[in-house]
Amino acid sequence: MNRFDGVSVLLTGAASGIGRATVHRLVAEGAAVFAVDRAADGLAAMAESATGAGRCVPHVADISDEAMVIEAVQAAVTELAGIEVVINVAGIHRTTPIDTLTVEDLNRLFSVNLVGTALVCREASAHLPDRTGVIVNVASAAATQGNPYMTAYAASKGAVLAFSLSLAAEVAGRGIRVVPVSPGTVDTPLTSSSVLPAGRDVSYFARIRSLLGSATPEQVASTIAFAASADGGYVTGAEIRVDGGSGA
Ligand SMILES: NC(=O)c1ccc[n+]([C@@H]2O[C@H](COP(=O)([O-])OP(=O)(O)OC[C@H]3O[C@@H](n4cnc5c(N)ncnc54)[C@H](O)[C@@H]3O)[C@@H](O)[C@H]2O)c1
Repeated sequence: MNRFDGVSVLLTGAASGIGRATVHRLVAEGAAVFAVDRAADGLAAMAESATGAGRCVPHVADISDEAMVIEAVQAAVTELAGIEVVINVAGIHRTTPIDTLTVEDLNRLFSVNLVGTALVCREASAHLPDRTGVIVNVASAAATQGNPYMTAYAASKGAVLAFSLSLAAEVAGRGIRVVPVSPGTVDTPLTSSSVLPAGRDVSYFARIRSLLGSATPEQVASTIAFAASADGGYVTGAEIRVDGGSGA
C-alpha cells in the first residue's frame, strides 16, 4: 500500500538534491506534490522524471520573496484542493570565514533558509487539516554541531531548528505535527559546489566525518517521507538527525 495515496504535498527546493529525491519518493508512493523551486530548468526536468502512482505540479518561485510565497501557496491550494503536508527543503549554503563574513552573507543565508521557510509555514499552516497536517523542515547537523567557516549557515539552520520546535508547540493543539530533519553530509550539488576557503586549517573536517560516509539524497528523502507519513505519527517537536553517526 502507498503511504501517500491521495495526499497533497507542498514541497520547496524540488529541483535538485534532497528535494528532488523527496518528490520522486512521494510521487512513487502516490502523493500529489506541488513542487516549488526558483530554478525553472531543473524543476521542469525533475517534474518530467517523477513517475509513479501520484503526480507532480511544478511551480517556479523564490521562497525569499514574500509575494511569491503567498501566490505559490494559493496556487497549491487551488491545484491540489488543499495541502496536507508541507516540506521545506529549499536552502542555500556559503562558507563564510569569520574575518570575511559580510552583512550580505548573513542576510542572504537567513532570507532563504529561515525567512523563506517561515513564510511557507505561515502561509500554508492555515490550510493544513487539524489532526493530520504535517510540516517537515530540513535543518542541518550544523545547527547543533560546530562547523568551521560555516557560522552564518549554521546559525541560519539553528534558527530553522528553533523555529520548528516552537511551531510544533504552537500548532500541537490542532494536532498538527512539525518535524525538523537534520542531515549530515549529503552528496548533492550544494555540497559539491561548496568550496572550503583556501589557506585555512581544514583538519577539523576529517574528525567529523560520519561513520557511514556521505548520504545519498534518497537516504535523506526516505527519512523525510517517514516523518511526513502516518508512520511518523508520534514524532513532533523533535529533531530527526540523518547524519550517519557524525555526532557519535
Ligand atoms: N547537502 C548537504 O550535505 C546538506 C546537509 C545538511 C542540510 N542540507 C539542507 O538540505 C536542503 C537541500 O539541500 P541540497 O543539498 O539538496 O541542495 P541543492 O542545492 O541540491 O538543492 C537546493 C534546492 O533549493 C533551491 N532553492 C535555493 N534557494 C531557493 C529559493 N530562494 N527559492 C526557491 N528555491 C530555492 C535550489 O534551486 C535547489 O534546487 C537545504 O536546506 C540544505 O541546507 C543539505
